[in-house]
Amino acid sequence: MVRAWSYAAIAALTANVAMGYDAVKCSTGSKCPSSLPCCSQYGECGVGAYCLGGCDPLSSNTLDSCVPAPVCKSDDYKLTSLDGITDKTKYLGDATKSNWVVDGTPLAYQDQVLLTMAPKTVGTVMASSHYVWYGSISATMKTSRGAGVVSAFILLSDVKDEIDYEFVGVDLESAQTNYYFQGITNYNNGGNISVTDTFNNYHTYTIDWTPDQITWSIDGKVGRTKKKSDTWNSTANRYDYPQTPARIQLSIWPGGLASNAAGTISWAGGPIDWSGPDIKSNGYYYATVNEVKVQCYDAPGNVTKSGSTSYIYADSSGMEGAVQITDKGTVLKSLLGTGVNMTADLPTSSASNSEIANIPGLNGGGPGLFGGYQPDGSSGANPTKNANPTAFNQGSSGSKSGAIKPEGERILKGSLFAGLIAVVGTMIL
Ligand SMILES: *[C@@H]1O[C@H](CO)[C@@H](O)[C@H](O)[C@H]1NC(C)=O
Ligand SMILES: *[C@@H]1O[C@H](CO)[C@@H](O)[C@H](O)[C@H]1NC(C)=O
Ligand SMILES: *[C@@H]1O[C@H](CO)[C@@H](O)[C@H](O)[C@H]1NC(C)=O
Ligand SMILES: *[C@@H]1O[C@H](CO)[C@@H](O)[C@H](O)[C@H]1NC(C)=O
Repeated sequence: MVRAWSYAAIAALTANVAMGYDAVKCSTGSKCPSSLPCCSQYGECGVGAYCLGGCDPLSSNTLDSCVPAPVCKSDDYKLTSLDGITDKTKYLGDATKSNWVVDGTPLAYQDQVLLTMAPKTVGTVMASSHYVWYGSISATMKTSRGAGVVSAFILLSDVKDEIDYEFVGVDLESAQTNYYFQGITNYNNGGNISVTDTFNNYHTYTIDWTPDQITWSIDGKVGRTKKKSDTWNSTANRYDYPQTPARIQLSIWPGGLASNAAGTISWAGGPIDWSGPDIKSNGYYYATVNEVKVQCYDAPGNVTKSGSTSYIYADSSGMEGAVQITDKGTVLKSLLGTGVNMTADLPTSSASNSEIANIPGLNGGGPGLFGGYQPDGSSGANPTKNANPTAFNQGSSGSKSGAIKPEGERILKGSLFAGLIAVVGTMIL
């Protein structure tokens, strides 16, 4: 059960130390500094949660800055409550204790989990704690609806290989499928599958991902197949095919946010109406998830294996051959740890007034790349720039997730003391 701890209380306690600072950006061409070694999924440097799921080894200070990733585990996750869902501020990498790590506000409702997006928030992303390196993944869900409101079920690797289902809220009769290799935009990768009213009906969306092909199926019927052999890039002399361990991500996000690129807004069906019917009746837009099934496939036969616990990247190609399976641990001692110092602990005194980014935030641009728009040239999966910080107020009072961000902050600004409080909170719960 995810329990709330009051951000307001922490904000009050840390008012003296949690001062604003500019996020340090990262990309493959501009790696993180050793003081903030980990490049988050959203392209910003930090420690702690920045080094866990989504940490990009190719944009981080060194290949081992990111914490090793928990290996695939076959399971049937019944999403009937918030059990097994951990807020990102409380997750230290132990996939045996958390199935999902959430950023935003999930709610339990009648044996289902709602991923919510209240007015002027950037929505909710729920990511699996275990990675999948080939497998069959099925999500039984209902999408959100409304102009500019996007729901997604994707696989996203730390080097930005991606396999998608995306649903734009103005077209409830179509599942948009896509894939990307290392975050490279390619407008020929998409494909649509017809489906009946995705908001009112549960459908089971399956991604079957093998070293040779991807199939997208809805309710057991194959809608699209992409073979690896059809992804040859003759310029680069390689297959531009998703091939690295990926997390499962289910999300609702504001594609129609005014600060997003014009092409994104138009792809998402236009600007979001923050007083639409779902907002009027519930106070938020929402996608409904009921079950996620994961069946792991074997890792490639030629993989270098020295254990069975975690995936690491052993070279900077970002290709399948760079991945190894090891027995290295996946759990940090505190949110000050990194892949190169996993036992780093919090200071014993709260008198320290240094602060350090340790919990990355959402930015409204969605969890991965997405179809139908021209990104603005920034690298990686973070095409939303200049998001207006004052437009965000993640969550609402009474949130069950503990992920409430103070108004006016785009990134949750961790501080040593906030980290300390987070750990104390975890111990109390
Ligand atoms: C899928 O549907 C969307 C919305 O109708 C459209 O913009 C897009 O071009 C379609 N994609 C493909 C590959 O047909
Ligand atoms: C082929 O690879 C090159 C080098 O990474 C990339 O710039 C290009 O976009 C790729 N081609 C396609 C069609 O994706
Ligand atoms: C396995 O062999 C294939 C074909 O030679 C190669 O492309 C791939 O990188 C190798 N994978 C690993 C994990 O070593
Ligand atoms: C790890 O971090 C701790 C601070 O918690 C520090 O005392 C220790 O020297 C670090 N170890 C290494 C190997 O950097």
